[in-house]
Amino acid sequence: MNQSDHMAAAVAALTRGELVAFPTETVYGLGADATSDRAVARVYEAKARPTFNPLISHVADREAAYRLGCFSPAARALAEAFWPGPLTIVVPRAADCPVSELASAGLDTIALRVPDHPLALELLRAFGKPVVAPSANPSGRVSPTTAAHVARYLACKVAVILDGGPCRVGLESTVVACLDGEPPRLLRPGGVPREAIEERLGVKLATGSNDGQLHSPGLLASHYAPRAAVRLNVQRPQPGDTFIGFGALQNDSALNLSPSGDLVEAASNLFRLLHKADDLAKDGIAVAPIPMTGLGEAINDRLTRAAAPRPSA
Ligand code: TXA
Ligand code: MG
Repeated sequence: MNQSDHMAAAVAALTRGELVAFPTETVYGLGADATSDRAVARVYEAKARPTFNPLISHVADREAAYRLGCFSPAARALAEAFWPGPLTIVVPRAADCPVSELASAGLDTIALRVPDHPLALELLRAFGKPVVAPSANPSGRVSPTTAAHVARYLACKVAVILDGGPCRVGLESTVVACLDGEPPRLLRPGGVPREAIEERLGVKLATGSNDGQLHSPGLLASHYAPRAAVRLNVQRPQPGDTFIGFGALQNDSALNLSPSGDLVEAASNLFRLLHKADDLAKDGIAVAPIPMTGLGEAINDRLTRAAAPRPSA
């Protein structure tokens, strides 16, 4: 296959909801259609992460990013100064943002980046939709900076690996949050030095977080939980419960994460069904037991947070 055949195969794979590894200037990314819950669930499965850490949506240009998120003047200034480039900007999701909620791990914010690599940009333009891409390594392993690293890690999980040679920057993008009513905050150091960002903004970046929410969004307990009380591992729902089933056992329940007991399907439905159950719930929400294998660990992690006691409002 020549380069353009590889590119066409990559676009076709993304369109089918499959995974594609591609080079960026920082590290290789494990890409999927950001608008497909199912494709995003496959990314988490391939990474074998025990939690749903939110993912970065990659787009071809600033205009595409401005359609997905709400950019403050500071966020726009950073986008103009550093994109394309190794900076990720976290902003509130736009009201009509089509990116899977699973990609945001249920948060109402979205991480966006325009990568500075010709193959990445060609892929994003040809696909025409945002692409989520964590670093293309299994959780806990070193990030890949060559196509050979990716092949060693994930060959059997990806449909296509685009080879763009070694990555120029070699470490991940800097992540900065620009959220309402907060000073811009450095969430992860990376390819763009903090000083360059501070110089552009004319202010020092806040670091860490006031409340642990931003710094470790995956650890955020009940803030994004449904309003209704949630009970887990429920075999038999009580009258009045809004029940979320899993597998054939609960096949007759109106809401079922996966009637066939498929954990990738269950992950892809998780946030949507939690919202739906919350809309329907008169009393509590009861959730069927979910196995702890594969994506089940991350699903149970998220459900446990949804069921955690709420801080009194
Ligand atoms: O250089 C990079 O950023 C690479 C290439 C492939 O673009 N990607 C990457 O993705 O490093 P990942 O998934 O390994 O790291 C994403 C980081 C995590 O620290 C995650 O917590 C943070 O971005 N993040 C994503 N969405 C967020 C959000 N809504 N709020 C706060 N942090 C977020
Ligand atoms: Mg990573």
